[in-house]
Amino acid sequence: MKILGISGSSRKEGTSGGMKLIQTVLENTGLEYELVSLRNKSIGGCIACLGCVEDNICKVNDDLKPLRDKIVAADAYVIGAPNYYSTLNALTHAFLERWFQFRHQTGRTLWGKLAVAVGVGGTTGAAPVDELEKFFMYNFIETVAKVTGQGAASCYTCGHGETCQVGIPTMIHGPGVKITDNIIPNVEKQKDVMAAAVQAGRLLGERLTKGHDRAAVTQRVRDKMMSRFGETA
Ligand SMILES: Cc1cc2nc3c(=O)[nH]c(=O)nc-3n(C[C@H](O)[C@H](O)[C@H](O)COP(=O)(O)O)c2cc1C
Repeated sequence: MKILGISGSSRKEGTSGGMKLIQTVLENTGLEYELVSLRNKSIGGCIACLGCVEDNICKVNDDLKPLRDKIVAADAYVIGAPNYYSTLNALTHAFLERWFQFRHQTGRTLWGKLAVAVGVGGTTGAAPVDELEKFFMYNFIETVAKVTGQGAASCYTCGHGETCQVGIPTMIHGPGVKITDNIIPNVEKQKDVMAAAVQAGRLLGERLTKGHDRAAVTQRVRDKMMSRFGETA
């Protein structure tokens, strides 16, 4: 069993709240894992060239190419993304759009696999985890847990955080905010969030080692997806 962790944050490891949460989930699975950061990678969105239709292999030559084998080989995914404008950041969105390459012919490359969605935002990570779950669903991957935390928006350290009228410190604490270490959000100090990450990792480890039935998972996700389409039809 091998799990692929993906951090969609563009920030350095020490600054990214998402990276810390993804790492915590992975460590608690008790299984082999690899954690890849998309930071500094050049990955464009799907260009709808249909070059992948016959063989399920994307022909675009960018930094996604070397990741394809890892995606295929993994039994499960722990993917984390920052909240940008109340959705996934563009880098993670582009990365996941390119999973269109697996959605042709039988579509069986990824279906029935499991995932944990991780989201971090200056306010909340709820929006990106919901988006991640949708992407997983399109590949018949079941989201076994969602973990969301509050990260340190760059506005706390940009140098203008106390006076900026549109920054997150003013949005959260009001005008005249004084920025001190104890108001800068840090996921490691959010006990419920860290506990949720530990729990998500354990659950994923259990689900993978205790009779993971890909066909049954596929059916469940398919049913969920069809009922969602039904709702919006
Ligand atoms: C371009 C941009 C847009 C952002 N938009 C939002 C937003 O709409 N809501 C929010 O809660 N945080 C927003 N943030 C703050 C980030 O989500 C926050 O810094 C988070 O900690 C980033 O995740 P990371 O720590 O893993 O890098 C934004 C940050 C940037 C750079």
